[in-house]
Amino acid sequence: MSKYYLTTPIYYVNAAPHIGTAYCTFTADLIKRFEIQQGRDPVVLTTGSDEHGQNVERAAKAIGKTPEEYATAIANEFVRQWQALGIAVDHFIRTSDPKHFETVRDLFERCQKNGYIYKGSYTGQYCFHDELYVNDAKPGDPCPDCGRTTETVTEENYFFKLSAFQDKLLDLYEREPLFVQPETRRNELIAFVKRGLNDLSITRTAIHWGIPAPVEGKHVFYVWFDALISYMSAVKGEDGIWPADLHLIGKDILRFHAIYWPAFLMAGGLPLPKRVFAHGWILVQESKMSKSRGNVVRPGPIAEVMGGPDALRYFLWREIPFGQDGNFSYDALIDRYNADLANGIGNLASRTLTMIQQYFGGEVPASHGDARIAEGAGVTSREVAARFEAFDFTRGIEAVLAFVSSIDKFIVERAPWKLARERQTSAEAAERLAETLYTAAEALRLVCGWLYPVMPPSMEKIWAQLGMPAPLGGVRADDLVWGRLAGGQKTLKPEAVFPRIESKPAIARMQELEIVEIARQNALLGKKTEPTAEPATPTISIDDFAKVDLRVGLVMSAEAVKGSDKLLHLKVDLGEPEPRTIVAGIALAYRPEQMLGRKVVIVANLAPRKLKGIPSQGMIVAASHEGGAPVLAGFLEDVPVGARLK
Ligand code: MSP
Repeated sequence: MSKYYLTTPIYYVNAAPHIGTAYCTFTADLIKRFEIQQGRDPVVLTTGSDEHGQNVERAAKAIGKTPEEYATAIANEFVRQWQALGIAVDHFIRTSDPKHFETVRDLFERCQKNGYIYKGSYTGQYCFHDELYVNDAKPGDPCPDCGRTTETVTEENYFFKLSAFQDKLLDLYEREPLFVQPETRRNELIAFVKRGLNDLSITRTAIHWGIPAPVEGKHVFYVWFDALISYMSAVKGEDGIWPADLHLIGKDILRFHAIYWPAFLMAGGLPLPKRVFAHGWILVQESKMSKSRGNVVRPGPIAEVMGGPDALRYFLWREIPFGQDGNFSYDALIDRYNADLANGIGNLASRTLTMIQQYFGGEVPASHGDARIAEGAGVTSREVAARFEAFDFTRGIEAVLAFVSSIDKFIVERAPWKLARERQTSAEAAERLAETLYTAAEALRLVCGWLYPVMPPSMEKIWAQLGMPAPLGGVRADDLVWGRLAGGQKTLKPEAVFPRIESKPAIARMQELEIVEIARQNALLGKKTEPTAEPATPTISIDDFAKVDLRVGLVMSAEAVKGSDKLLHLKVDLGEPEPRTIVAGIALAYRPEQMLGRKVVIVANLAPRKLKGIPSQGMIVAASHEGGAPVLAGFLEDVPVGARLK
């Protein structure tokens, strides 16, 4: 069958993976494994690192490194983490790779030869952070993407005639309705292109860390011209792999992929990718992850505490319809894991394998299995394949879970423990017992096959316990039909694949490991970790300290401050006639209801100040560390309200 080439975005080298970037890469891994099952051959997955541009130049300089050293450190970290998370990457393309330089120059020259490049002068507003020229912006205007103030630049640049592609792009979207997905994004995109396209400046002279353009003067390519072409560079020299069958991306970078990229390729006379799918955002505490918010969650600590990456993978697809935004929380992750994996699939596996040990000496009994369940399995198999094909992983997984419930019900109805007692005297009971356990084991085999793309290592473990002779990775869709499990096959002693996880200690451990992970990543770049190593402040006398009036307060009421996601409005009793109003920047770490009745430490003699129009009469004391949420100071023993800290 035909090849399948899929890509993730190449990630900026400004941070190591977090659960947002891992989401896209996990999904590419799922699709790769699914397409292999469907018989596509070869299936090639590319990811990589986007290393050029002003941001990297600046970040490297800030820590006394060259851009090459800086980019290499982070690119290596990506490679290492994807490997540790078990992602089946075929190519990791770095934009600093010389073979990529060649592809970029080649495409530029093709576009030039075909008359789509011209020299022009550009004066406009530029966002250095996003490497983005902001059309129609005036000096001082903010960047539409990140909100930072844009800067005015004038440059002699080479331009790409994007305006010549408006109709060709609209034709493409019409002719190939799957080219841009999901549908809502496709509609937004069409509306955007219909409003007209401006030519695009694709070289820069203000930036040095980039791919030199084959033109006179010191031009380097604009990062997006450079970055998009990496999808081709990765498979350069491999016959018949380009064009890509799928570019998986986040919704924020759709225009680059669905407008610029096909236009560059059309201008160069090269084949176009088949499909661009834009997924949604993973939010934490309902907002975008960012270092300054302290809500970045990394996949490593989760994998360490949850017995590997599968719990996180499962959670992301089970919980969030692919294409939409969705929220991550440790609590929800563990609840899902316990409900669906420990109690659901894990429990089915251990019951079935235990009963096969007990009643059949560890050998799968010979039988055809129950006809009704066999029929249900056929329906489920088709449903899962169709849902996964359409990237509707949530409903594909739901179909498997419904099948698992039907097996649980079947086992309860059949009551094999009763049949086992009766089988000495009843041939019918013996046969029904064999049929029951064959059915459960065969169901388990199919579940392993269907969910292998979702949770490869865990399904491999159950597969091995079932005693399957061939590796699960080699299973194809035709093997996922009822009745392929051989009677007489020796199973192994069951071992819990999804042991139940106690929420509180697991969350505490993941949070601790997050801090260790931040320190490790900082060390990698030679940066100091600030949390424990804040610079010592000058010493003060006891009299200086006595000037600070620290008091024990009791929170009487708490509510969110309108228009701010960081602030809580508190009324705190300090033992004075009236409670104080205190506005505290702790809303990302504490919900109002968590604050009620809590004893806190307040700086009681701080000059009042207004926050969001509310006069705050003091400050709450919390530990703060880079990358982490604030942690309120508190007491292990009871203390009276109003007591002074000395
Ligand atoms: N370097 C460019 C892509 C060039 S592709 C030719 C880039 N890099 S990025 O590191 O900022 O983002 C890479 C991808 O990660 C984007 O698709 C983005 O949508 C995705 N995500 C980053 N944070 C995310 C979440 N919190 N949730 C889901 N995906 C998010 O853009």
